[in-house]
Amino acid sequence: MNVYDSARMADVLAGVGYAPVATAAEADLVILNTCHIREKAAEKIYSELGRLRRLKADAKSSRTMILAVAGCVAQAEGAELLARAPFVDIVVGPQAYHRLPELIARVHRAAGAALETDFPAEPKFDALPKPAVEPGAASAFLTIQEGCDKFCTFCVVPYTRGAEYSRPIDDVVREARTYAQQGVGELTLLGQNVNAYAGMSECGAYRGLAGLVRALAEIEGIARIRYTTSHPRDHDEALIRAHADVAQLMPHVHLPIQSGSDRILEAMNRRHRADEYRHLIDRLRAARPDIALSSDFIVGYPGETDRDFAATLNLVEAVGYAQAYSFKYSPRPGTPAACEPNQVPEPVKNERLQALQDLLGRQQQAFNLSMVGRELPVLLESHGRKPGQLLGRSPYMQAVHVEAPDALLRQVVTVRITAAGPNSLAASLPAAVFN
Ligand code: 5AD
Ligand code: SF4
Repeated sequence: MNVYDSARMADVLAGVGYAPVATAAEADLVILNTCHIREKAAEKIYSELGRLRRLKADAKSSRTMILAVAGCVAQAEGAELLARAPFVDIVVGPQAYHRLPELIARVHRAAGAALETDFPAEPKFDALPKPAVEPGAASAFLTIQEGCDKFCTFCVVPYTRGAEYSRPIDDVVREARTYAQQGVGELTLLGQNVNAYAGMSECGAYRGLAGLVRALAEIEGIARIRYTTSHPRDHDEALIRAHADVAQLMPHVHLPIQSGSDRILEAMNRRHRADEYRHLIDRLRAARPDIALSSDFIVGYPGETDRDFAATLNLVEAVGYAQAYSFKYSPRPGTPAACEPNQVPEPVKNERLQALQDLLGRQQQAFNLSMVGRELPVLLESHGRKPGQLLGRSPYMQAVHVEAPDALLRQVVTVRITAAGPNSLAASLPAAVFN
């Protein structure tokens, strides 16, 4: 989502004469777009700001460099950030980046630092210019939903991104058409709770994610549709059906569960049990047997015992993931879990993370190996590291390297998988494609 947001900020700034440069040293304006989800991500900002402060001091003799912090750290720690890094000129939350030109003008008037972390009354998306697609891009992100009403006890998102909001369906379809007209073949629909999407149509009716997917599948040139990230509670029957019968909807779902222990799921306020999650996966697999699953996990949530953790490993064994992200629990300011007295010691968290990542790594490797010898349609997106090589994605989100002519860039090509590594596949083109 931050990648999408950064691109939209670049669109807004293009309107007032800014263009991207290769390095921060050359820039008149540097924006750090930040993430607050875990402490490690948030702390990185201060070391990066230290580096930028020196660049800003060097730039002073010939010109001024405006330094801005955007994103969720700006939203959550705006005032603290300005106190800790007073050389920052602009602090702007994710709901207000359409106001950047105004904030920059304020800095130019030498009116001091500009802090903008209110949730503005005007919808941000209405105020943003039409998105400009990176030339040659095969795939694009498209934010359809923002915010979260779930309030998992460990998570800052409901506070930093605010309440759930879905963009109107016709706006999304219009934006998708803009991408398709520019040659983009794949859309990844984004939202903190993307499957809670409920967009108003022009005639005032609401449609869920499945309805939106069906509308987008009608757009000429859109060969692939993905969505991320989902909450198990919002995965309705209509969306499962869409996986069964919309060819453009890719057979890959990121469905975070966080823990396999019912006790921990309850403490986290996830509002479902592990067996309900497994039942959902069974239904998805019944609808689309080759569907690949990925998830997020947190180890060392307050009060997590060895037994709870064993339940997570059991769940992973039972589901069999194609890929997953796993994290040590990180206490976040202002969230209920951070105040729990029974925090898990760091060495225990480390041990559990290692064990979980070993298991997930083995599953990912096995999933990749199961592709060898098969033919898969791959969307070729960019040049690979080696000359003559193109890099694309399988339907299941695996990176695929293949020797292929540039003419095939941005096309979906059926290739034969010849080898599998932990993080990517190698493939060859059928001879017919060369002729
Ligand atoms: N500590 C560790 N991981 C977290 N996540 C969210 N909040 C925290 C936290 N406080 C993880 C969850 C979520 C993903 C985006 O980040 O697994 O699904
Ligand atoms: Fe955070 Fe996701 Fe829970 Fe919302 S549903 S509070 S974004 S973990």
